[in-house]
Amino acid sequence: MPANYPDLEGRTVFITGGAAGIGAAMVRGFAGQGARVAFVDIDEAAGTALAEETGAAFTPCDIRDVDRLEEIIAATGARFGPVRVLVNNAANDQRHDVEEVTPDYWRERLSINLDHVFFAARAARRQMGPEGGGAIINYGSTNWLVGGTGMIAYQAAKSAIHGITKGLCNEFGPDNIRVNCILPGWVMTERQLALWMDEDGARWLSERQALPGRISPENVADMALFLASDAAAMCSGQFFTVDGGMI
Ligand SMILES: NC(=O)c1ccc[n+]([C@@H]2O[C@H](COP(=O)([O-])OP(=O)(O)OC[C@H]3O[C@@H](n4cnc5c(N)ncnc54)[C@H](O)[C@@H]3O)[C@@H](O)[C@H]2O)c1
Repeated sequence: MPANYPDLEGRTVFITGGAAGIGAAMVRGFAGQGARVAFVDIDEAAGTALAEETGAAFTPCDIRDVDRLEEIIAATGARFGPVRVLVNNAANDQRHDVEEVTPDYWRERLSINLDHVFFAARAARRQMGPEGGGAIINYGSTNWLVGGTGMIAYQAAKSAIHGITKGLCNEFGPDNIRVNCILPGWVMTERQLALWMDEDGARWLSERQALPGRISPENVADMALFLASDAAAMCSGQFFTVDGGMI
């Protein structure tokens, strides 16, 4: 049962990659607080179904097209009122062998996992600034801190998001815009369960995670609700880990 944050009621919240996994838990979580939730995703079927379920506004978008993403953020503000919370959540953790990475593949991985974070933050700032402030929540990862392999481009992007969080905290702070980063541990989303969680994975996790349970998407969404709310009013430029006690 998530905490109740009355200040989130009626607030316009924009989430990237909201159709599945942690993003979908956040769409449900913010909608449950009475926020006006808008989200984008490349998965049109899942996005449409979640919009019907929650009443959130869904726009199909490939976030690699940052011009389109900026347009949608502007249109969201015009339709629902200025975006006051932005969650930069969309990512793709496709595995790749170091020796097989080409320059084009490298750029493509960064465009899925990194570039949009900056452009969406800048677009949201234009709406948050005149409103007296807002909250931007980026998604980093513990993966590059716990010795993960097979996704060097993803790790490069995720570690850069930690740097962007610090930089934008300083850039946007004077406008009372808070910029924070959530570092999930290994979260049991549909994708992780389908692709990567097996007996070896369960053993790996049990050896490293201090707590015996498994992290749900809702566990992470709860942190996002806190960071978006006025309860986190003086938190900015920080990293909030939800990993069951691993790093
Ligand atoms: N699940 C984990 O264990 C874990 C661990 C560390 C960090 N994270 C981070 O948490 C965030 C959410 O992860 P998740 O596990 O819920 O991911 P997920 O793969 O379950 O969901 C990601 C969503 O983003 C969408 N998406 C992917 N590429 C897109 C594109 N080009 N344009 C628009 N939408 C696109 C997908 O369709 C999907 O709905 C990500 O930033 C991820 O890096 C997750």
